Amino acid sequence: MKSRHLIEKEYLLKIKKLKKHNKLYYDDSSPIITDSEYDKLKKDIIKLENNFNFLKSKESPSLSIGSKPSKNFLKSKHRVKMLSLSNAFDLNDLKNFEKKISNYLNLNNYNSIEYSVEPKIDGISASLTYKNKKFILGLSRGDGIEGEIITDNLKTIKDIPILIKKKNFPNDIDIRGEVYIGKKDFEKIKDRFANPRNAASGSLRQKNPNETKKIPLRFIAYTFGYCSDLNFKKQSEFLSLLKAWGFNTNSHNKIVTGIENLVENHQEFEKKRYDLNFDVDGLVYKINNLDLQKRLGFVANAPRWAIAHKFSADSSFSKILNIEIQIGRTGALTPVAKIKPVNIGGVVVSNATLHNEEEIIRKDIRIGDTVNIERAGDVIPHVLSVDIKKRSSNTKKFIFPKECPSCGSKVIKDYNKITKKYDAVQRCSSEGYKCEKIAIEKIKHFVSKEAFNIEGLGKKVVEKFWDLSFIKLPYDIFDLNYSKIEKLDGWGRLSANNLKESIGNSKNINLDKFIFSLGIRHIGQENAKLLSQFFLNIENFNNMTKDFNFNSLANLDGMGETQINSLKNFFSDQINLNVVKKLISILNIRNVIENKKGKLKNKTFMFTGKLSNISRAEAKSLTEENSGKILSNVSKKLDYLVIGEKPTVKKIKQAEELNIKVISQPEWKKLLN
Ligand code: IVH
Repeated sequence: MKSRHLIEKEYLLKIKKLKKHNKLYYDDSSPIITDSEYDKLKKDIIKLENNFNFLKSKESPSLSIGSKPSKNFLKSKHRVKMLSLSNAFDLNDLKNFEKKISNYLNLNNYNSIEYSVEPKIDGISASLTYKNKKFILGLSRGDGIEGEIITDNLKTIKDIPILIKKKNFPNDIDIRGEVYIGKKDFEKIKDRFANPRNAASGSLRQKNPNETKKIPLRFIAYTFGYCSDLNFKKQSEFLSLLKAWGFNTNSHNKIVTGIENLVENHQEFEKKRYDLNFDVDGLVYKINNLDLQKRLGFVANAPRWAIAHKFSADSSFSKILNIEIQIGRTGALTPVAKIKPVNIGGVVVSNATLHNEEEIIRKDIRIGDTVNIERAGDVIPHVLSVDIKKRSSNTKKFIFPKECPSCGSKVIKDYNKITKKYDAVQRCSSEGYKCEKIAIEKIKHFVSKEAFNIEGLGKKVVEKFWDLSFIKLPYDIFDLNYSKIEKLDGWGRLSANNLKESIGNSKNINLDKFIFSLGIRHIGQENAKLLSQFFLNIENFNNMTKDFNFNSLANLDGMGETQINSLKNFFSDQINLNVVKKLISILNIRNVIENKKGKLKNKTFMFTGKLSNISRAEAKSLTEENSGKILSNVSKKLDYLVIGEKPTVKKIKQAEELNIKVISQPEWKKLLN
């Protein structure tokens, strides 16, 4: 047996070696050993540490994973949510966008809507809080509700002013914009990152700001979150102010009126996109008038008043090597073409979706075919068409399975009562967790950003933990054996502890996120919110599992037959019931905090007939903003029926029979004021 001294010597030598290679890789960008040699070195060190308790070093890879970004930044809530944008791809999408806006605002002449047009830089968004003209807090977007505190890293970016001397700078403001890396700067470090966006993201999330400093990040400002003194009325005015205050703004920003002009400008700009020193994936259109923006508000995660007009997709040819079936969280069977890897617009693509069986038949796609593949931004690549001239005699037709490849259950198609047609999508008919592939997808959804948001438990880790039987059902996440995890390849004490901490933190969760996390079909973020506002606490929600009359949900504006049937289905399954029960016993699910300030608190409303000067959608939003609830049926639960022009007489009669107050639009307005 080796003496303690010799073991220590061997260990310290390896640590020294690791330090040297870390420097060569991260600081000098010139590694001299292969990735697998480097990994072996790290593994050897960890093995020694595990075998001999007395071995310790600050440089141990179990304490710091090289200079990889840390997974454990402190978090802070955004004062105003950080939203994302919906996409438009063509003239038609833009027309729909403008039509929706004008309907909502009840505008007659919408050709005169003014837009602030801004390049959509493909970087990482950040929010900078300035109080008394000083930069005091910098946050990443995170899940849009809370972000990571990356103030020190942001301070290393020279485009971000630390102190603002201008008199008219607001006392308290969140300035928001994009952190990115210029294309020329990216050239110098491109062997370390897949693309400029990854480089910016990685650099911004370094634990050590000195690492961030080494990569030349830039910042362009384009909007604000919270603002104490709103003394500007237009987005374009705000952009000019940003510039005057010392921020960088995009020199390609402009004001455009009319959809046709937007499209023309888009075509012109697209030609120039490759000459710019930053990656752009489209143009952002924002309603210029801030009062109108405020009235329009947002749906789920995106504002009604803005849209991203994406650039046309890149496409390329490649060969289909095989067709495989992917099973999604809701049981949908999606055929995916495994293609010979091909670079499409800077990204290596090796999978392309074929959507469904009908699509394969319609386009006559066969294994071995040469196909044209299209990729646009963050949209999944798909097969456009087959190059028939290149078809050889040994191509093979794909036979769509009649049984789920994962669990063997029958494959079914849903019947759509509205269109009176069967869906094109085929599904595994098993109930959720009984099918292995569905179960894994359900767990990935459970831990995702919009649900439990468990850092360190990404898709790959979920798959690994599933294979190791660490996690089979969502509640297993809260009962992990961390001493086993820290011994796994690529893990260590620090990363296992980090995971433990994020899982511990995630136990405090809002009711709407909890409902969303269950992955009930047709219950997305908006419906989960609606349900949480209806049930208010987990006890009420849980009562749904006992002789609950699901039909009472039909009263909620937004809940339809599809959603109700899906809830019934979900809660009639024993495994689902067990999962919910067990989770409730483990978690701290927060009650919904009702807006106490709202003038319409505890009051329910329904509208009938055409309202004047305001759209139905805006009237509903205004009611909800003031804590009123909207119902979609006349029932005993209704407090007010608001009538506009040409109301439904039957509804008024029903309301009168039930002694419900029938009020006019001006009377409703009075309640609001
Ligand atoms: S405005 C209104 N303006 O796009 C809410 N976003 O998909 C969106 N982005 O997370 C922010 N350029 O990272 C806005 N001129 C611009 C932008 C921009 C790029 C990014 C930003 C955001 C994402 C939304």
